[in-house]
Amino acid sequence: GLMRELKGIDVMELELKHLLGIKKVVIVPGDSDESAMVKGELGKASAICMKKLLSGKNIIAVTGGSTMAAVAERLTPELNQQELLFVPARGGVGEDVANQANTICSNMAKNTDSKHRVFYVPDQVSSEIYQSLIREPDIHEVLKLIKSASMVLHGIGDAITMAERRKTNPEIKEKLESGEAVGEAFGYYFNEQGEIVHKVSTIGLQLQDLAHIPNVIAVAGGTSKAKAIKAYFKQAPASTILITDEGVAKRLLKG
Ligand code: G3H
Repeated sequence: GLMRELKGIDVMELELKHLLGIKKVVIVPGDSDESAMVKGELGKASAICMKKLLSGKNIIAVTGGSTMAAVAERLTPELNQQELLFVPARGGVGEDVANQANTICSNMAKNTDSKHRVFYVPDQVSSEIYQSLIREPDIHEVLKLIKSASMVLHGIGDAITMAERRKTNPEIKEKLESGEAVGEAFGYYFNEQGEIVHKVSTIGLQLQDLAHIPNVIAVAGGTSKAKAIKAYFKQAPASTILITDEGVAKRLLKG
C-alpha cells in the first residue's frame, strides 16, 4: 500500500544520504527519464525545501538546465514571505534560451513576485577580455551578488548528454571522452572519481565558492544520471541537499 511505499522512500533517502555523504536527500516517486511529470515533482519538492530554508533577505544563484526550468514552474508567490533576488550562477554555458539561467531566473522571479538580475557573459573569453569584463560596473555588481548568495540551486547532468546539447566543439568532446567524463555541474565536467576533466571557462560562481554558501540544493533525477550524480558528490560540499527521484536513487543504492 501507500504507507509501505512511503516508508520505502524514507529509508532510501537515509541510505542515499549516507552513501553520498551529504546533509539531506529528498526522493520523489518515479523516474524523470520515463515521465516529464516527475521533473515537475522534483520542482515541487525543491520549492518545499527552499521554503523551509529561506529567511530574511535572500540572494539565490541558479544554474541552467531543464530541471531548473521545471523548478521555476513550481515556485509560487507563497515563497516570497522573504525578500528574494534570483541571479544566474554563471555566464552562458552554451544552452538553448529556455534552458539558460537568465531565462530561468526571470521565470523564478515572475512566479514568486520577486526580483532577478540578468548576467550576459560569453563562454570561453580570453583572459584579456575577462579582465576588462569583470571591471564593467554591471558585471561587477552581479558577480558580487553571486558571491554573496545565501542559496544555490543547481542541476547535475550526464557529461556526454550535456556536451552534445551545448554543441561543444570536437576538440573538447575528445577531451571529455578521453578523460572519461561522466557528470557535469556548473560547467565543470567530472570523471567517476569526481576529478575535474574540463571546465567551461565562464564568469560567475566557481565550484570552490560553494563551500561558503549556506544552502546548496542540487536537483537531478532520472536513472541515466546515476554515474553523474555519484561522480559529482565525490567533489560537492557535504552541506549539499539533493532532490532526486526514485529511479536514480534505486540505481545508486544498487551500487
Ligand atoms: O548542469 C547540469 C545540467 O544543466 C542539467 O540539465 O536538468 O536539463 O538535465 P538538465
